[in-house]
Amino acid sequence: MSKASDDSSITGAAKVVPTQYDSIGQTYTPVTYLPTVRLTTSNIRDIVTPLLTSCSSKPVRALDIACGTGFYTRSLLEWGADLVVGSDISTSMVDTARTQSTHLQNSITYFVADASLPAFPPKETMAGQTLPKGELFDVVTGIWCLNYASSSAHLKRFFTTISQNLKPGGSFIGVVPNIHTTDLKPLNEVWIEELTVERGLIYGYSISKVIPITEGEGAGEGYSVHITAHVQPKPVEFDCYFLNGECFEKAALESGLGKIEWLEVKDAAEFNGEFGDFSDGFWDTYKGSRSFNIIRIRKQ
Ligand SMILES: C[S@@+](CC[C@H](N)C(=O)[O-])C[C@H]1O[C@@H](n2cnc3c(N)ncnc32)[C@H](O)[C@@H]1O
Repeated sequence: MSKASDDSSITGAAKVVPTQYDSIGQTYTPVTYLPTVRLTTSNIRDIVTPLLTSCSSKPVRALDIACGTGFYTRSLLEWGADLVVGSDISTSMVDTARTQSTHLQNSITYFVADASLPAFPPKETMAGQTLPKGELFDVVTGIWCLNYASSSAHLKRFFTTISQNLKPGGSFIGVVPNIHTTDLKPLNEVWIEELTVERGLIYGYSISKVIPITEGEGAGEGYSVHITAHVQPKPVEFDCYFLNGECFEKAALESGLGKIEWLEVKDAAEFNGEFGDFSDGFWDTYKGSRSFNIIRIRKQ
């Protein structure tokens, strides 16, 4: 049994259940090198850095929900946080995050938990590591987290967690699928016809099995999708949901967190040569149907 799952059963922390990411933990890292992920990272860095460096209270604390292997959790330290907590529903992802962060153990705490459940963070955490109990965070990030909500009601539960963990005036920054906010039609036209294997091979990922949600809490609110990241040595594949923008706006307001701002996303060309390793025209097709949006919500 892995350390994390072992610890959870001992402490009675949020029950650890197997997730689709448990078979991905060891092979996920190459995904963070994909061109589109690099573009996401540069955008997030430029948005989050001023939020962290302008905090007047010290130490500056950040929470990274759905932290996966801790790529952004570690980046938050580089971008100005003093203490960071990373959490994820998958034991295997958290195990990998810990392994890759041993040099940062005084600044990062990881734990396993479902961020859409009310007991978050769990009262007791992994052995040997304590969470900053009762402390709220200046910034919460959820990079490709909210696409695991299968309905606006489920989204609301994620936003409630975020709200409970943010200081008043603090910000949540999230990366979410770009489905053109409210109109679901472009999703079918753009994503199904253009983001097929051919585009996936250029930009590193593809989307398939786009199925409208017709039953349950999320009926009529969007699509379930299957994503494949075409990385070596093994493709990374998972299922998630693309809900329409109205669901996000409604859930954020109803949770009490606040109003969503849909932030402007910069193209690769706007990063002063940072993407110079890509050929001219590489991003041309991508511009019209970018895969992600970035949202900010300031806690009221
Ligand atoms: C695509 S990965 C992104 C990981 C990381 N944020 C990054 O960008 O490198 C999505 C992560 O969300 C996690 N996840 C899915 N549902 C979750 C939930 N309800 N609570 C916490 N984490 C969740 C998965 O286990 C997985 O590690």
